Amino acid sequence: MTETVAVAGATGYLGRHVCVALAEAGFAVRALVRSQEAARKQGNFGAPSLAGIATEWSLVDYQRPETLQGVFDGADRVVSTLGVTRQKASPWDIDFLGNLRLLEQAEASGVRSFCYANVIRSDSGTSLTMRSKHAFSQVLRRSSVAGQIVNPSGYFSDMTDVLMMARKGIGFVVGDGEGHVNPIHGADLAAFIVDKLTGPAGEWDVGGPDTFTYRELAKLAFDVSGRSGRIIAVGPRMTRTVIGVADHASPQASNLARFFLEGFQLDATGTPVGTHHLADYWRTLP
Ligand SMILES: NC(=O)c1ccc[n+]([C@@H]2O[C@H](COP(=O)([O-])OP(=O)(O)OC[C@H]3O[C@@H](n4cnc5c(N)ncnc54)[C@H](OP(=O)(O)O)[C@@H]3O)[C@@H](O)[C@H]2O)c1
Repeated sequence: MTETVAVAGATGYLGRHVCVALAEAGFAVRALVRSQEAARKQGNFGAPSLAGIATEWSLVDYQRPETLQGVFDGADRVVSTLGVTRQKASPWDIDFLGNLRLLEQAEASGVRSFCYANVIRSDSGTSLTMRSKHAFSQVLRRSSVAGQIVNPSGYFSDMTDVLMMARKGIGFVVGDGEGHVNPIHGADLAAFIVDKLTGPAGEWDVGGPDTFTYRELAKLAFDVSGRSGRIIAVGPRMTRTVIGVADHASPQASNLARFFLEGFQLDATGTPVGTHHLADYWRTLP
């Protein structure tokens, strides 16, 4: 019998790729969205439309728990790619509380598994995003539902900014730039998630096929853009200053500054999977 998989965060970069990969693997897809109209359009960074992909829709608002009531009834499994990236909301309200509310519904409905797109090294760093994601992954480990925690390295979508800066002649590293990262395409990560979905509970660090130091990444962006430029190293004093200013500006600025300045120093490599190469992706960008 065809299993139904409910996808939270279905309109996001990863969520859209997950919905398509699920449909291609023969699952029925229930998309949890805040706008069906937006879902039917193409997503950002080349992510696909959900028109003809989702067979069921649920309109949800994570700040209004009543809209989540029974949202997984009749579903077999859940994948959550829900999280704040560019949206204006607190990561605590969405990444932690939003996912917690989903998990409570999943437990009540008795679904077989709950797969969560966490972030690699979520146990490190002081940003609210990292703290919220780590807190939810801890809760999921203790659920009665089988938890599948996927810890990805940076997505190609986020690497777009590195190329855009290089095109303006700007490149930077934080600290010595010698930490490693293996960015992953949304379609490759979606394939990984679908592959793990019907298996047991577990936790996996995952990334794309190519590993770079942050310095190599900045150099690659200059190569692909055909520009030359200087790579600026942001040292510890500058990092502290920027975080201090951001802390006084707003909680959102504080989170962003901490997330990026700390994240760009982390060794963030997962098991390499997939076939998409970052340089090829960059070359397709207008
Ligand atoms: N981007 C990266 O490099 C990266 C790396 C590792 C892990 N991750 C994690 O992977 C997950 C997916 O990332 P992504 O890049 O696909 O993010 P994304 O494109 O921003 O998608 C996030 C999803 O969450 C929903 N969402 C966010 N804030 C919301 C709010 N206030 N109310 C309702 N829905 C909200 C979005 O809905 P709308 O479409 O309606 O805004 C979207 O469906 C996130 O949890 C992220 O932290 C990302």
